[in-house]
Amino acid sequence: MPASRDRSGVSRRQVLVGAAGTTGLLAAAGPSAQAATRRPRDGDGTPEQVHLTWGEDPTSSVVVSWASPHHATRPRIRIGRRIIAAQERQYTDAINGETVWTYHARVGGLRPGATYVYVVTADNDGNTADPFSATFRTAPAGRPAFRFTSFGDLSTPNPDWVLSYGQSAYAVSAVESFQPLFHLLNGDLCYANLNPQSQPEVWRDFGNNNQTSAAYRPWMPCPGNHEVEFGNGPQGLTSYLTRYTLPDNSVPDFAGRWYSFRIGSVLFVSLDADDVVYQDAAAFVAGPPSLQPVASTGNAAIEPGTSFYVRGYSGGAQTRWLEQTLAAARANPGIDWIIAQMHQCAASSSATGNGSDLGIRAEWLPLFDRYQVDLVLNGHDHDYERSFPCRGTDTNAGTETATGATVNTLRPHPVTTDDTGVFDTSQGTVHLILGCGGTNTNLDDYGVDSQDGTRQARVFTRANRPAATSVAGVYARAGADAVEDATWSARRDPSTGYGVAVFDVHPGTGPGSQTSITVTHYHAVGADPVNPATGAKGAPSPDYTQFETFTLVRTRSDG
Ligand SMILES: [Fe+2]
Repeated sequence: MPASRDRSGVSRRQVLVGAAGTTGLLAAAGPSAQAATRRPRDGDGTPEQVHLTWGEDPTSSVVVSWASPHHATRPRIRIGRRIIAAQERQYTDAINGETVWTYHARVGGLRPGATYVYVVTADNDGNTADPFSATFRTAPAGRPAFRFTSFGDLSTPNPDWVLSYGQSAYAVSAVESFQPLFHLLNGDLCYANLNPQSQPEVWRDFGNNNQTSAAYRPWMPCPGNHEVEFGNGPQGLTSYLTRYTLPDNSVPDFAGRWYSFRIGSVLFVSLDADDVVYQDAAAFVAGPPSLQPVASTGNAAIEPGTSFYVRGYSGGAQTRWLEQTLAAARANPGIDWIIAQMHQCAASSSATGNGSDLGIRAEWLPLFDRYQVDLVLNGHDHDYERSFPCRGTDTNAGTETATGATVNTLRPHPVTTDDTGVFDTSQGTVHLILGCGGTNTNLDDYGVDSQDGTRQARVFTRANRPAATSVAGVYARAGADAVEDATWSARRDPSTGYGVAVFDVHPGTGPGSQTSITVTHYHAVGADPVNPATGAKGAPSPDYTQFETFTLVRTRSDG
């Protein structure tokens, strides 16, 4: 089914804003000078980059967040007869010294499953006569049927930025066309850290692009490696954390890095895999030039060969929180499904991408097994891949690439390799790679063992810290150090690196009955700049068509 081009839910004013060049559709149709971001204007408190996240209880609370080009005076939202003041959070970027102002209005006391209109404004809003307005819907109460969507690796539609591509505007429109209750944005939001002198501008183009959907339904993010920025906070996440207000994890010092929320019979767990992966893939200065922050920051030059590597930053706090959260969920008869999102992958066989990471396998897969996590959603590799249900590991299944020595990659063990299209996830966890949002770097090129033609995955089993290259002053980080036969890999999509997954939760008919989640992946064929399988050159495409559908089943917990 082609995704509808119906832009229902998008206000006329937003379309006009798009025509002015700050949002994506124009840029998606063809990159133009108009797509370039505007510089902030002093005294301009006009709301932009408006987006929603769930509050602590999605049946009764949301958070409305936005930014403005300069400090806003009396920032607020209006919803019905209520005026709710927004809290300001601001930071100054550690590289280009620009200050970013963001605003967050917590809205509680809402009715379940109800639609609300809201208005965002400030005293110095340039659109005072016709301020930004949108609608949202709260989560239904009880054990409802509902739909959500997911992808990661979105970027912006402004081709001036590294990794940005027009598909990112069509991807946002595709989400909107499916009208989900909410969207899971599984990391690498906009790649600001690959544009270190312009990080706030990249975030701005990202926020104005995804406002087309995120102002109308929550977009719930997790951090990826490209949210980790030099100088911006202890894990480099200040740009991300200042823009998002996320459910409380009650862990001191680590608010917003990981969290959970519940919709009906599904617990969603959002994790920061930067804390556990071996791969070093965040902010990096390759050289020869150093990265020189502007003088006003007072920050020193960052020398070639420097990377921002945060593995282990929580000291185990995230994993302890995860275990407590999963244990409580599996003890709760109201929760059937546990769905986790994180950016990096336990099971990816992209040949040209990053691959799989032993850090996740060692730290979190045992917990996913113990507490029967049903589904794990990842990005990081810009493609689509689905695993069979997996439980436990195969020992010593890997080979060190450099030496040919056997290495224990803790390979996920598929409980079946019969691709029936219906999988009981009480028996094993399904992993989905959905790094297919909108970057200009498709990675839909999958590993094959040249010896026997079987699927092969690359696996990081140790840190790939920067090393000097043969070019003076230039450093590089190596790719994955091991390979394994990807016995867990069920389906890959070599036709395109772009798509969106749509999840329909069916709660079952009564206590102890079967509940299911129908998953349909829609892909944008022809959107690859260059398709690795055929060599065909493509361009951004608004046409999302069905690639595959499958169903997850399990017995309800209230039987
Ligand atoms: Fe990534």
